[in-house]
Amino acid sequence: MNTARVNTAVFPVAGRGTRFLPATKASPKEMLPVVDKPLIQYAVEEALSAGATKLVFITGPSKRSIEDHFDSAPELEAALLEQGKHELLAVLRSIVPASATCIYIRQPAPLGLGHAVLCARPVVGDEPFFVHLADDLIDSTVPCLQQMAAIHRVHGGSVLGVQTVERKDTDKYGIVAVDAVTDTVSRVKHMVEKPKPADAPSTLAVVGRYLLSPLVFNKLEKIGRGAGGEIQLTDGIAALLLEDPVYAYAFEGKRYDCGNKLGYLEATVDYALKHPQLGKDFQAWLRARLS
Ligand code: G1P
Repeated sequence: MNTARVNTAVFPVAGRGTRFLPATKASPKEMLPVVDKPLIQYAVEEALSAGATKLVFITGPSKRSIEDHFDSAPELEAALLEQGKHELLAVLRSIVPASATCIYIRQPAPLGLGHAVLCARPVVGDEPFFVHLADDLIDSTVPCLQQMAAIHRVHGGSVLGVQTVERKDTDKYGIVAVDAVTDTVSRVKHMVEKPKPADAPSTLAVVGRYLLSPLVFNKLEKIGRGAGGEIQLTDGIAALLLEDPVYAYAFEGKRYDCGNKLGYLEATVDYALKHPQLGKDFQAWLRARLS
């Protein structure tokens, strides 16, 4: 059982974000803010909390602002210092701790999520690693990747974050067929990308959180194009589970699908209501607005 600490988190951020056009014409969807933080920063904070120190971004066209966001900003910092805005300065400086390293790899062509993950192989090496899809925002007491790392320490293998979805929605997700191990953990027997509701083996969907064995790379380099003509991560994991255990973990937390406008608005409202500075005023405004 490989229960090594997970040092690396991979963030595939090369997607075009067409559902948010025109907002995402020149700016990545991962930079859309939920209240005052971009989605990709929530993602990075979750990975850091789970112990990752190597942050690998798989980028594509128009993604420069992600690199800028996680880089230092000497001019802005100097201006804030001069203006005595020390709190804001601290906020800027805490975006990425000095102990973490950001690595950017350009995906040469938009060939799918599996291909994006394969691009990370040279820097991941022979260790288990996280994959985090930033548009799946998860609000939980213990950050989702941290929960998954704990499951990995007990069971080894690979771990997928799953939630039950409505049967009519199975064609939006990777769907798993499982055998239960505990109340929240089950062994994946089979996995299929975006099956039609009638063909789906269950309604248990993977929602953007993966802790993967490096063995998956051997599978990803061999599989051909799958659903939508793309190299699918799901197909790589489906091949992996035939020789190495893959677990589905029903994590604690609420997931917001920030890849679509409604989910994004729901996240914005809920995060605003919980915001330490804005929450009370926003709640009062919202009550008045709805009454
Ligand atoms: C991707 C994966 C899918 C997964 C989903 C979670 O699909 O391919 O297996 O269930 O993320 O959000 P996408 O949403 O990129 O089409």
